[in-house]
Amino acid sequence: PLTTINGILEGLQYDAIPEDSKPKSIALMQRETKRLIRLVNENLDYEKIRNNQIMLVKTNFNATIILHDLKSQLKQNATKANDELVVEAPDQLPIYADRDRFTQVMVNLVQNAIQFTHDGKIIISGKRIEHGTQLSVKDNGIGMSKNQTKYIFERFFKADPSRARMGTGESGFGLAIVSSLIKQHGGKVEVFSAPGKGSTFTVTFYDKGYEQFVAKN
Ligand SMILES: Nc1ncnc2c1ncn2[C@@H]1O[C@H](COP(=O)(O)OP(=O)(O)O)[C@@H](O)[C@H]1O
Ligand SMILES: [Mg+2]
Repeated sequence: PLTTINGILEGLQYDAIPEDSKPKSIALMQRETKRLIRLVNENLDYEKIRNNQIMLVKTNFNATIILHDLKSQLKQNATKANDELVVEAPDQLPIYADRDRFTQVMVNLVQNAIQFTHDGKIIISGKRIEHGTQLSVKDNGIGMSKNQTKYIFERFFKADPSRARMGTGESGFGLAIVSSLIKQHGGKVEVFSAPGKGSTFTVTFYDKGYEQFVAKN
């Protein structure tokens, strides 16, 4: 972003930008500034989560309510990509987690599903398992190869750099944040995917006292 912003600033300084394309340049500068702010904030957030500097406030709540909120929140984006967004979960789905961080995890997963799926269907589902609650986000988008899925939880990783152009949420932080948050919850995250077939991300949150061991750094 800084390269773009600096380039435009220089163009303005030396009057190299024609008058009628100035509004466009300034709008671009504005977008890039916002993107930079997002990147910095996500990086800070990621570092904090990774270093166990965030406090999880875990409570028991009904996950289904959040899944429906999420659907209405992201419906517009889904419609833009011509994707159908469906929630499949029982009316009551108890979960033990930090509510805001749980929401963040699910938002990141659904945003990705929308980003990499056009004219498709995205199913957000939830169910109880033994001593825990399991959520899945399933899409029928472009999918990934085995080799690609190996690295997607690393910061900045993009399975295919050309995908960066496909939409928003392009910072490469989303899944790194998801994986750190899940780890801190003592839960787990899994991915099933095949090129051209789509992807399914499954996250598990365990009930109080059944969390998986969390290594302290
Ligand atoms: N639902 C999905 N379908 C296909 N590829 C995905 C999906 N979710 C994530 N990926 C791959 O994993 C990479 C990392 O995702 P993420 O950490 O959210 O970063 P970003 O969305 O900013 O690229 C993506 O760039 C993409 O290559
Ligand atoms: Mg993402």
